[in-house]
Amino acid sequence: MAPKFDLKAISDITVLIGTGLSLYYLSSRLLKDMEMGPIGVSKESKNKQSAQWQKLCKKMPELSGTPLNAYEESILEFVVTPEEIDTTFESIGGLENIISELNESVIYPLVMPEIFTSSPLLQAPSGVLLYGPPGCGKTMLAKALAKESSANFISIRMSALMDKWYGESNKIVGALFSLANKIEPCIIFIDEIDSFLRERMSSDHEVTASLKAEFMTLWDGLLSNGRVMIIGATNRMNDIDDAFLRRLPKRFLISLPGIEQREKILNVLLKGTRVDENDFDIKRIAQHTNGMSGSDLKELCREAALSAAKEYIRQKQLLQKNQNIEGSKDLALTPRPLRTSDFTSYLAHGTTHSNNPFDLD
Ligand SMILES: Nc1ncnc2c1ncn2[C@@H]1O[C@H](COP(=O)(O)OP(=O)(O)OP(=O)(O)O)[C@@H](O)[C@H]1O
Ligand SMILES: [Mg+2]
Repeated sequence: MAPKFDLKAISDITVLIGTGLSLYYLSSRLLKDMEMGPIGVSKESKNKQSAQWQKLCKKMPELSGTPLNAYEESILEFVVTPEEIDTTFESIGGLENIISELNESVIYPLVMPEIFTSSPLLQAPSGVLLYGPPGCGKTMLAKALAKESSANFISIRMSALMDKWYGESNKIVGALFSLANKIEPCIIFIDEIDSFLRERMSSDHEVTASLKAEFMTLWDGLLSNGRVMIIGATNRMNDIDDAFLRRLPKRFLISLPGIEQREKILNVLLKGTRVDENDFDIKRIAQHTNGMSGSDLKELCREAALSAAKEYIRQKQLLQKNQNIEGSKDLALTPRPLRTSDFTSYLAHGTTHSNNPFDLD
């Protein structure tokens, strides 16, 4: 006899399983949303934000009890206190003239705002623009300015911000300014400012256009208050909207270093590194590095140090091998100081060295 199927029971079971599955997905989604908070903040970010807020309150007790909205809280992740910054003017080579001008444009308004309120003729600049080729010290300068003026530092890459909070960008930009006001003196550093402030074209999305308008309004609101400063950085000066350029009256070109600047940068980069007394000519290295940026010079110094380290490893391995054969005593062996040839041979042969010191050639 053929088995009998109870069609009703089968459909009941199917409905039951379906309902169970939907309930499972619904509850797991709800739980996730609860964990993420109103604007999609993970638990980890939340912890980071509250730790940063506590740090700020400890430093500025007047802040405790100040309410922050969810958007301001999310900006906290980008806040760095001056104590956390280790870049100072001393760690920057060859930009003395620019540093002294930045002192007047950025540091004085932040640390002595009374100068700028004493006369209507004196007005703190609403912003400063650092522009020039990559790797020449723009980010370093902005960080050092925050350190030297003991200002809090909010470093923001606009594109990342807009991607993360698309649709809520206006609120996040509002929060950026209101938080900066609360934690003044404060430097808002906008890296790749061109990507946000690019020429407003007719094809511009409505959201981006209204965001820019909002940004400008808030920026203008800062004018009377020198204790929040905007520093923008870009490699593409020509891509910046005119309306924004007007708000960045102080512009500094951070160009590729010349021979004297390269020597100064090399001096800064090699501070604390042993160099050969009889066989190290920094002027010669500076001469041979035409067209290199500060970050190229850093890479060059790293490669030079690596070649001396490789030599040391090779010698040590050889010594150990001989010891095993002869059972001889360990000889005192230390890494040798750097020589000019460590630099010039890298310059002559390009990036042929492996980055792995154990990959000996
Ligand atoms: N003038 C300088 N003195 C000492 N080190 C420098 C100098 N310029 C660049 N460097 C080195 O190069 C690295 C990169 O510099 P930085 O990030 O400031 O460049 P940038 O101008 O902001 O580049 P990008 O346009 O790519 O953002 C620094 O961390 C530093 O080690
Ligand atoms: Mg940079």
